[in-house]
Amino acid sequence: MHSEPADFTELEAFAVDLARAAGEVILPLFRADIDSENKARAGERYDPVTAADRASESVIRKRIGERYPEHGVLGEEFGADRTDQEFVWVIDPIDGTRAFMAGLPLWTTLIALRHRGQPIIGLIAQPYLGEVFVGGPNGSRLLKGDAETRLRTRACPLLTDAVIATTDPNLFDGAETGAFAQVRAAARLARFGCDAYAYAMVAMGRIDLVIESGLKAWDYEPLIPVVEGAGGYVRNWRGDDVDGSGQIVAAGDARCLDEALTSLRRSALRQSAS
Ligand code: IPD
Ligand code: CA
Ligand code: CA
Repeated sequence: MHSEPADFTELEAFAVDLARAAGEVILPLFRADIDSENKARAGERYDPVTAADRASESVIRKRIGERYPEHGVLGEEFGADRTDQEFVWVIDPIDGTRAFMAGLPLWTTLIALRHRGQPIIGLIAQPYLGEVFVGGPNGSRLLKGDAETRLRTRACPLLTDAVIATTDPNLFDGAETGAFAQVRAAARLARFGCDAYAYAMVAMGRIDLVIESGLKAWDYEPLIPVVEGAGGYVRNWRGDDVDGSGQIVAAGDARCLDEALTSLRRSALRQSAS
């Protein structure tokens, strides 16, 4: 059974409102002197969180609870609540907390709406730049001020012509490092430190390929409707639908994706993380 398109339009508008509400609580804390804590347990990589991450997720959860009390919520900072529901919101209140702490405007708020297990609406919002990249059944658009621009990935048939990105090449483990190095060696140029903003640039047709690993549901589910609604692809490193492996490759052109997968498949994990 499918919901009426009008429902999705309303839900998408609500998701945009959520991102704007998050921006209102985050922006006063951006480039301000606020503390951060390291959430990592012993032996884990540095994993910072700030008052801005918590304030953002709190306001998003509050608004969802007021408007759609029957919906489930999964958020990075405050966990899972009724995730067996038909509709579940998946939230990364600030993706790119490291960029946020460094004063770089590449952090974003990520919001997805899952319907029966599938992300059907997603958004990547950068309030300092005033940008909301939204994707769903109505396609992908960039909302900025009063302007609304359709998003389309660009053609890139050859990896040698590709602009690629990953947040930090040092975050790959074991064989992943070599797989990424092969793709990077073939590509035209690589950019680092973009977090989820890189996926928005795939949807906009500025970046051709993003390769990451170790991602959680709140890191990647919001990206899928944005990239796919613009004509792109989000896959795991085997080239299949995204699973819990955390290994993600996003591409604007299937031919470029296939070339990258030749290297990535060699170190593709079976589903493990959630
Ligand atoms: C991080 C970003 C980054 C990815 C890391 C994540 P956070 O999220 O998504 O791009 O490479 O694995 O932890 O912690 O800034 O929300
Ligand atoms: Ca994240
Ligand atoms: Ca985060």
